[in-house]
Amino acid sequence: MPLHRRFTARNALIALLVWLFLALLFHLKAELWPSPVEPSLTSLEPSNDDHREPIPHDNGGNKAGETPAVAKRRTAVVVASQQLEDATWLDEYFPRWEKNIYRVDDKSAPLTVPKNKGRESMVYLTFIIDNFDKLPDNILFLHPNRYQWHNDDPDYDGLPMLRHFQIPYLEKEGYVNIRCAWSLGCPSEIKPIAEEGEHRAAVHAGGDYKQGYEALFPGKQVPSNVGVSCCAQFAATKEKVLERPKSDYVRYREWLVDTPLDDSISGRIFEYSWHMIFGKEPVHCPTAKECYCKVFGFCYLECQEDGNCAGRYELPRFSTLPNGWPFIGWKGEERNRSAPEE
Ligand SMILES: *[C@@H]1O[C@H](CO)[C@@H](O)[C@H](O)[C@H]1NC(C)=O
Repeated sequence: MPLHRRFTARNALIALLVWLFLALLFHLKAELWPSPVEPSLTSLEPSNDDHREPIPHDNGGNKAGETPAVAKRRTAVVVASQQLEDATWLDEYFPRWEKNIYRVDDKSAPLTVPKNKGRESMVYLTFIIDNFDKLPDNILFLHPNRYQWHNDDPDYDGLPMLRHFQIPYLEKEGYVNIRCAWSLGCPSEIKPIAEEGEHRAAVHAGGDYKQGYEALFPGKQVPSNVGVSCCAQFAATKEKVLERPKSDYVRYREWLVDTPLDDSISGRIFEYSWHMIFGKEPVHCPTAKECYCKVFGFCYLECQEDGNCAGRYELPRFSTLPNGWPFIGWKGEERNRSAPEE
């Protein structure tokens, strides 16, 4: 056999072996160290551009065949519930979110509070304190019922509200109030100094707010105006919660346990303090136009007023919705949903 042919055959064999070896290495590398796909917060963030489509993202839903492409941050709900209220819809529609359903009036419930006082704030504080070393990455603090008069939705429905909630925006902001309409809360719900000592209505906390503020934020100057869209449903990231030491949250809860103030008032003081606890200014009232776009991805609404966009939210006449809502209206008449569930 001529020398040059043997040489070529041997070379070919070596080349083949080298090629196989390299292919194996690449395969192993891909298997063992998959290249991370960084979720880019900025690229997912809704812009103010009115013509952009809503941002698709994972809201813990259960679409068939859908598997998360990237290791997701943990998202959890913390729900302040009473025995007669129902949060099971969250399991049904948001199966991938961790559920922390507290029952404030049931000592034997799996999750409950040391004292049923201060409304939802006792639950929110208790969750933070008890889970301080193992907090989920994104935490939504919520009331239990699906339909509630203050939910920012044309049908007061929490389902579309949460489905559209922009988790990437939360991850960028650290704290996001889950409500945009200004009716109740904005632009200046409480005037701590002007209203000190006033007792205009059992549910208004203005008269007692200053003393509450001084206890919660010692050494800080009491603001003359406090505003945030109402009703104490908001979200915070783990990173934001951890900007304060655990001892702050323990101290807040001790104040709540010890205060002689009425439940509705102490709860209300927290309702109008969470945004400051999580680093926002005393008046945290983005315009409804900006808020609906960033918080819910609704970027093309018509908004005639700073605090209201057409067709989004109307303050209802009563805080108890009719039985059968949204298919039965205020006068017992049949009605259709004013917006789709999705
Ligand atoms: C509800 O929608 C259906 C279908 O569009 C319609 O036929 C019906 O009249 C509507 N009912 C009311 C009360 O508006």
